[in-house]
Amino acid sequence: MSRSARLVRAVAVAAVWGLALPLALSGCDGSGPDDTGAAGVGDPYFPKAGNGGYDVRHYGLDLAYDPAGRRLSGTARLTARATEPLSAFDLDLTGMTVEEVTVEGRRASFDRDGQELTVRPGDRLDKGEIFEVTVRYAGRPETVTDPDGSEEGWLRTADGALALGEPTGSMAWFPGNHHPSDKASYDIAVTVPRGLTAVSNGELRDERTTGGRTTFTWHAAEPVASHVATLAIGRYTVTRSRTGDGLPVYVAVDPTQAAASRTALARLPEVMEWAADNFGPYPFSSTGAIVDRPRDSAYALETQNRPVFPGAPEIELLVHELAHQWFGNSVTPRTWRDMWLNEGFATYAEWLWTEDEGGPTAEETFTELYEHGEDTYEDLWDFPPARPASAAEISADPVYQRGAMVVHKIRQAVGDDAFYDLVQGWTAAHRHGNADTGDFTAYVEEQVPDQDFEPLWRDWLYGKDKPERP
Ligand code: TRP
Ligand code: ZN
Repeated sequence: MSRSARLVRAVAVAAVWGLALPLALSGCDGSGPDDTGAAGVGDPYFPKAGNGGYDVRHYGLDLAYDPAGRRLSGTARLTARATEPLSAFDLDLTGMTVEEVTVEGRRASFDRDGQELTVRPGDRLDKGEIFEVTVRYAGRPETVTDPDGSEEGWLRTADGALALGEPTGSMAWFPGNHHPSDKASYDIAVTVPRGLTAVSNGELRDERTTGGRTTFTWHAAEPVASHVATLAIGRYTVTRSRTGDGLPVYVAVDPTQAAASRTALARLPEVMEWAADNFGPYPFSSTGAIVDRPRDSAYALETQNRPVFPGAPEIELLVHELAHQWFGNSVTPRTWRDMWLNEGFATYAEWLWTEDEGGPTAEETFTELYEHGEDTYEDLWDFPPARPASAAEISADPVYQRGAMVVHKIRQAVGDDAFYDLVQGWTAAHRHGNADTGDFTAYVEEQVPDQDFEPLWRDWLYGKDKPERP
């Protein structure tokens, strides 16, 4: 349907429905007064993150980066579906200069206010309509400081750059609906000076050099939450292989880290198979890792398909970030309040790995943490895992450690067989989706109907104080 034909139809429908239409458009569905999509999805910790009114289905990013000038330029092509009638909608983007925006191939007007890039298509978009918006932009991408003081967004590295997006950094390098509740597939093409490598999510589809520059084209078919989209540009030693199950492995290591990384990375296929045995079938079409230098980032991140490590990882950290592919990347929290579903499970994966390797059992780790946890994690009993005290604390110790303790309490309650069934059933039920804490507790109760989990949730998940010893 052409844009003008659609407009005519919208007017005709308005006439038939008379008074009902203005009501429907004035906010019952979360839209603004004049068909403007909301400037945030209402996240309890990051209210401006994401946007209402549409769902992105696909991001096509065509980018070029010049490390000497630190300039990123390109076009973002988003395919989205309007979830309400829209005369305007927001994308999240911080910094950069927007040169042109089009909607369905026609120039759209836009303005900017903080992280909101407001786009006004000439013609209103219908509810349910699938539309394409393109944003041409350029500039020096920003490094974003998180509420907890850590740095994300676009990080300059010793020999290039690294894009890390948790929780809100991805808006520094491409415009989008930057909230974990809106996942999409990605095609990312990046042009860099010859000699450098550009690594991203999914599989490398093409690599071609012309005129002193090389374009790397990456394809991620399964849904990606934008905070685990990544781009790593620099000099890397690339190793391509396959796991025993035939899954493609793409590992990029900064040459200065190669020797120290060897032992842990050699076990990556084994970790993948171990994780699939424990958590269920791997949800993506390739795996791997990106290892940069220790000063390039202050932390590791579970970027989809191939996590990023600042320096050679210990095996437990590799286990943690690969476990996130199930817990966080495939089953993604609905809001930033549900972080324990990521970090509790990824931390518990470390306990399980250690147990399976013949180290302390998860029961011993749990007991040690219960008895002496404050010695290592000062703020361990400050707040319950399912209710981080503030945006600055969504990655604090209670989310990780008490989150893992919740998982262990469930295992204690149901026994090993039922526990592994529960874990694998959970990753299957919400594969490639979003889930929150309520979904999780309801799921456990449904699967194990003969037990009362209420005290466990009350004391270990939501309880403010250190639970009494059972
Ligand atoms: N998710 C990362 C990990 O555990 C850590 C992390 C990095 C993080 N940045 C964050 C957690 C922002 C919460 C918010 O490996
Ligand atoms: Zn983690």
